[in-house]
Amino acid sequence: MKIAPSILSADFANMARDIRTVQEGGADMIHVDVMDGHFVPNLTFGPGMVAAIRPVTSLPLDVHMMVDDPEQWIPAFAKAGADTMLIHVEATPHIYRAMQLIKEHGVKAGVVLNPGTSLAAIEEVLPIVDQVLIMTVNPGFGGQAFLPAMADKVARLAKMRAARDWHFAIEVDGGISDQTIASVAKAGADICVAGSYVYAEGDSPAQQINKLRVAAQ
Ligand code: DX5
Ligand code: ZN
Repeated sequence: MKIAPSILSADFANMARDIRTVQEGGADMIHVDVMDGHFVPNLTFGPGMVAAIRPVTSLPLDVHMMVDDPEQWIPAFAKAGADTMLIHVEATPHIYRAMQLIKEHGVKAGVVLNPGTSLAAIEEVLPIVDQVLIMTVNPGFGGQAFLPAMADKVARLAKMRAARDWHFAIEVDGGISDQTIASVAKAGADICVAGSYVYAEGDSPAQQINKLRVAAQ
């Protein structure tokens, strides 16, 4: 299981320190939550943040775009140093073109589903994506409760992947803790995003990451 700490729960006044802490603590990538105050009711980071943290870490930057009109931001986030760009299928009528555009910029392309969106909405792009992110909370904020019904959605997606010999990674995001990670691990998730559990709960970020790995096994 790959662990992707979300810097949404980091100390924004000590961002570089908090990114180094999770890198040293064994994180596999850094998850960057981009919110525009329209697609979701919260405002966070732009391409300037991605450019600023790029030299701070050697870990891949996993950029989760919770924005309206996401295509317009692809060139800027690619230039800033995103390794994967994840776009919500709910945010564009042209998800296929958006995935193509991301790849044309030399970035890995990911598609994201809100809890209320069916897997059928992304079926046609599955052959060309590198990653599929299943939201396990309604997007917008850290620290929300995991939606247990989403484990079955992950299992159904994993089954589709196996049946068609597709190779995208399955990622989950929201409410991941040592209590919830086993259900999504068992269902077939490859990458778990964790914000508040890593940065704001219990022990040090390194210990929290380790607890997630143990619980996922
Ligand atoms: C929610 C974000 C998540 C968030 C997860 O909209 O996409 O990445 O940071 O936070 P936790 O792990 O606290 O649910
Ligand atoms: Zn996210």
